[in-house]
Order: sequence, then structure tokens, then C-alpha cells
Amino acid sequence: AEGLHPPNYPFPQKTLFGTFDHASIRRGFQVFKEVCAACHSLDLVNWRNLVDVAYTEEEVRIMAEEYQYTDGPNDKGNMFERPGKLPDPIPRPYANEEAARAANAGALPPDLSLITKARHGGVDYIYALLTGYCDPPAGVEMREGLNYNPYFPGGAIAMAQNIFDGVVEFEDGTPNTASQITKDVVTFLNWAAEPELDERKKIGLKALLMFSTLTLIALWAKRNRWQTLK
Ligand code: HEM
Repeated sequence: AEGLHPPNYPFPQKTLFGTFDHASIRRGFQVFKEVCAACHSLDLVNWRNLVDVAYTEEEVRIMAEEYQYTDGPNDKGNMFERPGKLPDPIPRPYANEEAARAANAGALPPDLSLITKARHGGVDYIYALLTGYCDPPAGVEMREGLNYNPYFPGGAIAMAQNIFDGVVEFEDGTPNTASQITKDVVTFLNWAAEPELDERKKIGLKALLMFSTLTLIALWAKRNRWQTLK
């Protein structure tokens, strides 16, 4: 069965010239790091991608250094552990698919790098899914390890509800309601999937201004040239 159709939420980046809310991207990464990263990878994002988008270079460097990465081989042929650096990827929660499934009762938490593009309904679907957990309708039995969610196709999802009021504390004092936390993590995931969006919108606006100016000049030139013949 299809999932319930999600509402159309007013994310600013959806509008014609609207760009991302970068304070929201920043809070959203905090949510990803503190909640989602326990189970989901984000393979296409490297630490340095966050620089000047949501954090300063110094802030990102400090966050990366909190994780250990296996590097090598060194000149003795050995692998070694070292703190994270800007070019490293955001660390994965599991070594491989088998480990991921073993920790999630057989289900595989998908990589979230492109999830807002990969799923029908995009940001609206993800927001509705994360906030949409509820009791199953009367008479519907959930199998062990599955959770009812009307937005998930089929209605039974292996991921349990993760976002609740107060589950993270924002450094900028933004109220940490479940809906705010969800909006921020969805904004972050949308940025991860389409980091070029702001630039694309800016270039689009410039192109529009340029071509409408050229159109006006062309119209004027045409009238100017033809006026003696009409
Ligand atoms: C699936 C997001 C936290 C385990 C998913 C999906 C999304 C998602 C978008 C895909 C749903 C679909 O296929 O349409 C998030 C976000 C999280 C989060 C944004 C943080 C706020 C977690 C955590 C766990 C987890 C902490 C583990 C304890 C799973 C699993 C699936 C899944 C096992 C596969 C579900 C299935 O196919 O039935 N998640 N997740 N997730 N997630 Fe999460």
C-alpha cells in the first residue's frame, strides 16, 4: 500500500528564489550527530563540506578531532588510528551492512546523504514520517520490531520514533520541540542532498535579470530600426 500523502510544509528552500535557512542547517547537523548518526551513515558528506555553510573552519576541525579514523599503511606497513581531519567523511555507525542489520533486527538504516531526493515526497515525506508515529488503527497488529507509521509505504517501519520534545538542546536557544527538531534535521538532510541549491537559485536570479534586460534592449532596438519603414 502507498503511504499517506504528506502535507506541503513551508520550507523556504522550496520557493522559486528561496534559499536554505543556514541556522537551521546548523541545528539540523547537531540533531543528525546526536540522534540519527547512531544508526545512519552520511557517506557523501565530509567534515569540510560543513565549513562556511553552518560552522567556522575551527568549529568543524574540533568536531572532527573528536572521532578516531583508521589510516595507513605508514612506512612500516602498519595501519594506525588518528583523530579526524577536515577531508575525512562523517563517520559511519557500522562497519558494513551485516553489522548494521544485526544491530537493527534485520532492517538496514539507509545512508541519508541523498534521502530527500531518493524518496517520493522529498522533504515533506521525511518530515511527515519523522513526526507521524502513532498507534495503529484498531485491529491492526504490529509484528515484533515494527512500528506503525501511516506515511511509510506499507505502514510498518523498522525504525522506531526517535524525535521527541527536548531530545536535543540547541546552543542558540531555539525551542527544542519535536517539530522544530524535525524541521532542522530535514533542512540539514536537504542541504546534504543538494548543497548547490543556494548557488543555483542565485545564478537563476542573475540569468533572469540578464535575459530580461537583453529582451528589453532587443525590443527597443527593433522599434528603433523599423520606425522609419512603418
Ligand atoms: C529508516 C531518517 C534515526 C534506524 C530511515 C529512513 C529515514 C530515516 C528518512 C528511510 C525511510 C524510508 O525508507 O522511506 C532518520 C533520521 C533520524 C533517524 C532523520 C534521526 C532523527 C534512526 C535511529 C535508528 C534508525 C537512531 C536506530 C536506532 C532506521 C532503520 C531504518 C531507518 C532500521 C529502516 C526502516 C525500514 O526499512 O523499515 N530513517 N532516522 N534511524 N532508520 Fe532512521
